[in-house]
Amino acid sequence: MAQTLSISHVQLGAAEERSVVEVLRSGQLAQGPKVEELEHRFAKLTQVAHAVAVSNGTVALIAALQALRLDGDFEVITSPFTFVATVSAVVAAGGTVRFADVADDFTLDPGCVEAVRTPRCAVLLPVHLYGLPADMGALGTIAQRHGIHVVEDAAQAHGAAIDGRPVGSFGTGCFSLYATKNLTTGEGGLVTTDRDDVAERLRLLRNHGMRNRYEYEVLGYNYRMTDLQAAVGLPQLDRYDETVRRRQRNAAILSEGLAGVDGLAVPWVPHGRSDVWHQYTVRVGDGARLGRDALCAGLRERGIESRVYYPKPVYGYAWCRHHPAVRADRAPVAEAMAREVLSLPVHAGLSDSDAGRIVDEVRGLLT
Ligand SMILES: Cc1ncc(COP(=O)(O)O)c(C=O)c1O
Repeated sequence: MAQTLSISHVQLGAAEERSVVEVLRSGQLAQGPKVEELEHRFAKLTQVAHAVAVSNGTVALIAALQALRLDGDFEVITSPFTFVATVSAVVAAGGTVRFADVADDFTLDPGCVEAVRTPRCAVLLPVHLYGLPADMGALGTIAQRHGIHVVEDAAQAHGAAIDGRPVGSFGTGCFSLYATKNLTTGEGGLVTTDRDDVAERLRLLRNHGMRNRYEYEVLGYNYRMTDLQAAVGLPQLDRYDETVRRRQRNAAILSEGLAGVDGLAVPWVPHGRSDVWHQYTVRVGDGARLGRDALCAGLRERGIESRVYYPKPVYGYAWCRHHPAVRADRAPVAEAMAREVLSLPVHAGLSDSDAGRIVDEVRGLLT
């Protein structure tokens, strides 16, 4: 039987081994020069003044919100069609979550924001889902009009851009370096900003609020990344352009091959936005020959892994249903998506023929 095509694939080699061994031999395992180098290089990739490394993407979101020094009773408007951490981070930072629905590109619909905005709204928190930038032009205009902050959940979208401007540069950017992300350190996160004061605050927050030894200036925590983690991430930056090109090529093969299948909608990329294809996600609608879950099972039998990201809008999860800081603003588009989405392998380890095999198997099952 042909080799199983997994939904994600970590590509690490000799360069990462050398880099990690260097750290092991140095004895400097905790935050040090490798973290600093990762920050410099990621800031360059994102075209911002500062990148601050932290322990994971959830912490990146919490720290970003804390660094903005929001007033007591603040609300955050975000997408309900996201990973749960977008929402738990807001609650951890002391905010209340309001949901605006998504557009058919899977990202926050600017046209739905005003309906849930109250005077307490302090932050607009779009999610660049699956590697596709949200509509930052329209969202930025809304934020500016009301004098509210923009925090970007860019956990899945390293290097994605709008008209050449990278995500993470439109507001305070929050990235994850979790094991399955396009760039990984196993666990890890980065916060990007052009604001010197926010960067300074982030650096304090991540190190117990300490500027000088045993002078705890503000309430802070341990949000630090280790040099061991940074050492895994650095060599991946050398080949990141190539990684993204390969993902884009795989996505193009899938979209071309899957066009015109009854009931199947391939993802689309709005004009001017560049997608880094963290996931390649189709929608399996009522008109398809098989339902979404049957297609997933059929692909599994044929050696192709597919996944549902995400099975419910966040407000449908148990704790969110009952939490006073999570308002269940209903989002019908997100609810339909949760029933229909299926992500197919698109990672940089796939060859043209692997992508072609995915097309053939999906077509075989649906036509
Ligand atoms: C959209 C989104 N937000 C936040 C996170 C949280 O990142 P982490 O898993 O690194 O804490 C993730 C990743 O898992 C994510 O996909």
